[in-house]
Amino acid sequence: MQTSTVVNGKRNELAPAENSAAVDVFINGSSHAAHPGERLVDVINRAGVDLAQVCYHPQLGPIQTCDTCLVEIKGQLVRACATTASEGMKVSTISPKAHAAQQEAFDRILSNHMLYCTVCDNNNGNCTVHNTTKLLAVEHQHIPFKPKPYEVDNTNPFYRYDPGQCVLCGRCVEACQNVEVNETLSINWDDPNPRVLWDGGSTIGESSCVSCGHCVTVCPCNALMEKSMLGHAGFLTGISKRALNSMIDVVKGVEPETGYGSIMHVSEVESAMRENRIRRTKTVCTYCGVGCSFDIWTKDRHILKVAPSDGPTNGISTCIKGKFGWDYVNDPDRLTTPLIREGDGFREASWDEALDLVARRFTEIKAQHGPDALAFISSSKCTNEESYLMQKLARAVIGTNNIDNCSRYCQAPATTGLFRTVGYGGDSGSIRDIENASLVLIIGSNTAESHPVLATRVKRAHKLHGQNLIVSDLRENEMARRADLFLHPKPGTDLVWLSAITRYLLENGLAHEDFLRQWVNGLEEYKKTLAPFTMEFASQTCGLPVETLEKVAHMIAEASGVCILWAMGVTQQSQGSDTSTAISNLLLVTGNYMRTGTGAYPLRGHNNVQGAGDSGAAPNALPGYQSVDDPEVRARFESAWKVTLPSTKGLDNHLMVEAIHQGKLKSLYLEGEEMAVVDSNANYVAAAFFKLDFFVVQDIFFSTTCHFADVVLPAAPSLEKEGTFTSTERRIQRLHQVFEPIPGSRPDWKITRDIANRLNANWNYTHPSEIMSEMASLTPLLSGVNYERLEGYKSLQWPVAADGSDQPLLYTKKFNFPDGKARLFPVPWSGPVEKSNTEFDLHLNNGRLLEHFHEGNLTYRVKGIKEKTPDVFVEISPELAKERGVQSGTWLLLISRYGQVRVRALVTDRVSGHELYMPMNSTASPVNRLTSSHTDPVTHTPAYKETSVHMEVLPEVGENPLPRVNPRFGHPTPQEGVEVERKWKRSDYRLPGSQLVQIQQK
Ligand code: SF4
Ligand code: SF4
Ligand code: SF4
Ligand code: FES
Repeated sequence: MQTSTVVNGKRNELAPAENSAAVDVFINGSSHAAHPGERLVDVINRAGVDLAQVCYHPQLGPIQTCDTCLVEIKGQLVRACATTASEGMKVSTISPKAHAAQQEAFDRILSNHMLYCTVCDNNNGNCTVHNTTKLLAVEHQHIPFKPKPYEVDNTNPFYRYDPGQCVLCGRCVEACQNVEVNETLSINWDDPNPRVLWDGGSTIGESSCVSCGHCVTVCPCNALMEKSMLGHAGFLTGISKRALNSMIDVVKGVEPETGYGSIMHVSEVESAMRENRIRRTKTVCTYCGVGCSFDIWTKDRHILKVAPSDGPTNGISTCIKGKFGWDYVNDPDRLTTPLIREGDGFREASWDEALDLVARRFTEIKAQHGPDALAFISSSKCTNEESYLMQKLARAVIGTNNIDNCSRYCQAPATTGLFRTVGYGGDSGSIRDIENASLVLIIGSNTAESHPVLATRVKRAHKLHGQNLIVSDLRENEMARRADLFLHPKPGTDLVWLSAITRYLLENGLAHEDFLRQWVNGLEEYKKTLAPFTMEFASQTCGLPVETLEKVAHMIAEASGVCILWAMGVTQQSQGSDTSTAISNLLLVTGNYMRTGTGAYPLRGHNNVQGAGDSGAAPNALPGYQSVDDPEVRARFESAWKVTLPSTKGLDNHLMVEAIHQGKLKSLYLEGEEMAVVDSNANYVAAAFFKLDFFVVQDIFFSTTCHFADVVLPAAPSLEKEGTFTSTERRIQRLHQVFEPIPGSRPDWKITRDIANRLNANWNYTHPSEIMSEMASLTPLLSGVNYERLEGYKSLQWPVAADGSDQPLLYTKKFNFPDGKARLFPVPWSGPVEKSNTEFDLHLNNGRLLEHFHEGNLTYRVKGIKEKTPDVFVEISPELAKERGVQSGTWLLLISRYGQVRVRALVTDRVSGHELYMPMNSTASPVNRLTSSHTDPVTHTPAYKETSVHMEVLPEVGENPLPRVNPRFGHPTPQEGVEVERKWKRSDYRLPGSQLVQIQQK
């Protein structure tokens, strides 16, 4: 029996475990191993046997719309994509009956699609329709091409739909309905001329389409295409439409004479020529912490498209930012020259002059005030290697532990909660483990907008696989609308209802006693501290009915596996660490750790929030969370770095700002952060920058923060460098360089290296792989990480042992404490620090928006995003709008105890009562002029979410801040999938290959 085959150059073998249970399938007379229950089409593909399959995509499953995969089994035709392999199955892909059926099915496909490959931008070797024409050796069409009576839809800024080329395979519908689960697309099978519909018949531009690009990615031909490809990919496709149409006519004209064979030959020559000028480079998304990876297709510096396919996290998935949000890389405003302050302005300088100045001032300030008068902030958007060098510069070269990164602003409390209870500050498993949960509980996370691709997996499991979903949030966001149960507690009270539920479970025999006995310390002590958390107290404090809380408790108790996802709605509170701890306590009490479908998932916001902390950009820990006050740890680093290291904990971001105000901190080197906008109480932070003796800002654009700098250094974005990012799954992935840095800019790691060397560090790094090797050699958590093990789409989820084995599921054999047991950690309740009163009578919540990243410095430079979501706004409930005479577009002045902003209203029932919501994406009206300097006392994470404001209604009424083309105005059309049964019911449909019985397996 053959158990290993090579398909498309890749060896595709059954795993040993699968081998043991393998069944034999005979394909065209040869025996091949299959897993019981495996799709026949996958067995055929693994065997390397050619079979047409236009609608089949492994990540979408059988759609059964095209019929081109018909094969013969026991004299009957069946669709290979929808048939399961079984022992002894005898399959013919080449019998006359099967062959005729495949030909007929594909002929129907071609009646919907004009073959003009030579002048098609999709002629890149991967067009399924082109390749199937060749595979089936089609020379002439028996059913002529019939154009559909619809215009091309160009109304989305990023992609277009050409109904005339659409083969109605339904892949796009399946992807939109059941992978992205935005539920925008359908096919009107009952219409005489079916086509793909957006919201049942809207233009794309005015539909609910969120421009995630799933549909475009999976389209097997040129019906859906990225606009950035059109006119750019081919040698002949950039010509005028008129000339193009004439060429298409010529191609069609010669077909009756020559057949498709020679036309295909010409187009393949053209396609092969493209290989020399189109580069496909694997990278990792620069935006959120989900960690999507994909190939970027480029021609010179033009980005043709983002092509996701094999990302370990995302497969074919992306969101609008990862798929289409890259215009900023070639934006003309990119910084290309170092700048040095001169009076109130800046002058251009050479790199040598700027770096010399930085080194000189660092030296002077250190000499005059000591090393702790300097501080360093790395970026959660920079690579692991860059954060490692930044902390090494601070510690080994300057001699201070004053180093931090922006995870202080979002994730530090979650990390603390997990360190306290289970021992590692990272997600307990992978996104796949979340998919496997029978209940997902989301607390304070707008997952569909902040972690869009991760959210698709929850939406899919909920829609298709019976996963239950509970959402607790102030806003009725998309996940809340989909949830089986939506809780809207009073702001900042999550700790109370979580603790009350935990107490209820313990008191009612619903805790997991065996798990507690075997794996958890501190139960008795913890139980005592739960005394105040009665259901009645929780109900009163949180504003949630007791029955609802009991329902939540029973749903958790009855679930076979619970994953809890949380984000900044929890962490950016004055009890962020304690609430995160309460979450982990609840999971421990219910035994929801140590297996797939369970665990704690603090969703990391930025692409490399996890990695920046892992790499040591923190005031208390060297790389791998090794404490700076541990002499053994220090000795290891000292011996490798040949320096003496400081042993006392340094200043975090928050304390740095305080220290500047107190005159203790004189110099700050800031890498890739827009602190003057994104820090809480931004006016106070900006005032601190004025007081610095020396301020270096390294960025790719002249940000708001650059205005305060003494030296501005032009950095390079992720597409212009090598390195690694670590996603929320603890997944370390490589980004490969797509472009050279634009002239004048440099990758951050080179800039930091060059500054260090001017300070006599003698660093010889020539490539980030050397930096990673050094970090791995000093960091047990990462000891087996190297670039070879991360080549291409390979990835590792820490901890990584020296032999390269990693841990997708974090706790399998033990928790990360010396005795291997987790710890219940009591957390008392103190309540929010900042409260509403009669003057500041409205609660202001804030957070992310799908289309924009953080303050928007990158995403506002993406033309299509700006068109769809041009400006910030404040969401106001219909009842408050009525009470205050506000409508969408009314200008408002929001005034807090710390500042004020002018912003337009958006009236929406996503918020209710006296609670407002303002996205964080604005540098002109940043919400952080309103937020405070209150912090979580453990981590100093600002309590961004505890903000009260007074609202002044201004006389002007502008336009609605969201234009009609924003997807929030759309009307999705949820359905099971492509609903092929409706196609089969058409009077003009019969299974290709004749009067045979139609087998309809799903
Ligand atoms: S949301 Fe829009 S871009 Fe995404 S799959 Fe649906 S139709 Fe396509
Ligand atoms: S637009 Fe959709 S239905 Fe049409 S060919 Fe592309 S994926 Fe298939
Ligand atoms: S979900 Fe996050 S990582 Fe994935 S494409 Fe979107 S922004 Fe990028
Ligand atoms: S591949 Fe289309 S029906 Fe099987």
